[in-house]
Amino acid sequence: MKLFEDKFESFFSDTELQKFKEECLRKSLMAFNIKNGNVPKWTDALNKLNSTKKGELGLNDPYISIKNIDSSSENIETNLKQLLPWRKGPFILNNLKLESEWIGDLKWQRIKNKIKPLKNKRVLDVGAGNGYFTIRMALEGASKALGVEPFLLFNYQFAAIDTLTKSNSNSMLIPLRLEELPNMPIFESVFSMGVLYHQRDHLEHLSKLKKMMAPNSELILETLIVDGQKNYALIPEGRYANMRNVHCLPSTETLKSWLSDVGFRSIKLIDVSVTTPQEQRKTPWIGDNPASLEDFLDPSNPSLTIEGYPAPKRAILTCSN
Ligand SMILES: C[S@@+](CC[C@H](N)C(=O)[O-])C[C@H]1O[C@@H](n2cnc3c(N)ncnc32)[C@H](O)[C@@H]1O
Repeated sequence: MKLFEDKFESFFSDTELQKFKEECLRKSLMAFNIKNGNVPKWTDALNKLNSTKKGELGLNDPYISIKNIDSSSENIETNLKQLLPWRKGPFILNNLKLESEWIGDLKWQRIKNKIKPLKNKRVLDVGAGNGYFTIRMALEGASKALGVEPFLLFNYQFAAIDTLTKSNSNSMLIPLRLEELPNMPIFESVFSMGVLYHQRDHLEHLSKLKKMMAPNSELILETLIVDGQKNYALIPEGRYANMRNVHCLPSTETLKSWLSDVGFRSIKLIDVSVTTPQEQRKTPWIGDNPASLEDFLDPSNPSLTIEGYPAPKRAILTCSN
């Protein structure tokens, strides 16, 4: 991944990031070298996108936009469709609308005015998916927005978007899990969105997030929750809304107590929203047999999942270390 290495060099040139550069690069290259039969197809798509003249990155709500790419929409679409499914977005590339499964902007609007400004901050986005939010953080003025995401396809999606733009120097995605990062207490805002419920050990995840935070920093945590008293949490048996590896859905009071147990302070609940099929929807960008939230809710009672659990509801909390 020459593209990745070049970008990595310039992104990690920041004095604080530089201290962790070797370890992060070594582990990232190992992750990219894992055998995956799709890599030739993904690499080919990237190479074809890379040959085009790059465009300008910006925002055209709810889309991240890239304007003036010197390539036809057909060429861009054909190659980006080699990287299905596009879960996170949406993006607009020249006039081509990449309608991802999620309208990420809806989540971002719930967050952006309720957190400390990101301007000139070093930001960490844990479980970043394809980096849609990482780029939004950079567009808010973060000096560095580093996303970590172990799922390889999403790293190729980020690289594809990155390769179409000439102005995306302050966001970067690396193919690592949070636990694989060295403790780097250098980030002034740390995001963990949609990740906690996938962790077997939620307290360990929260403690590791804390170890990444510079003094007086802010954590922004978004996760699935259920209604209930303090100490209540739902542990789904098998799938939850068709998702595998959903380990634990706390009540908001339980979540606050977990944060407090790990040593976070000034814990604030800033939003609770039920996830709707308007926000998480079927689109041609998720593949030939698209299935999305509407298929995972009980058709006779959409307040329940197909497994009979309360339908997805998400909370956003902020706190300091
Ligand atoms: C539901 S997605 C959320 C993506 C994005 N943050 C958002 O809010 O839409 C969760 C992502 O976290 C990643 N993930 C899960 N466990 C992780 C870990 N321990 N470290 C980093 N990423 C993780 C998954 O691969 C997945 O892409």
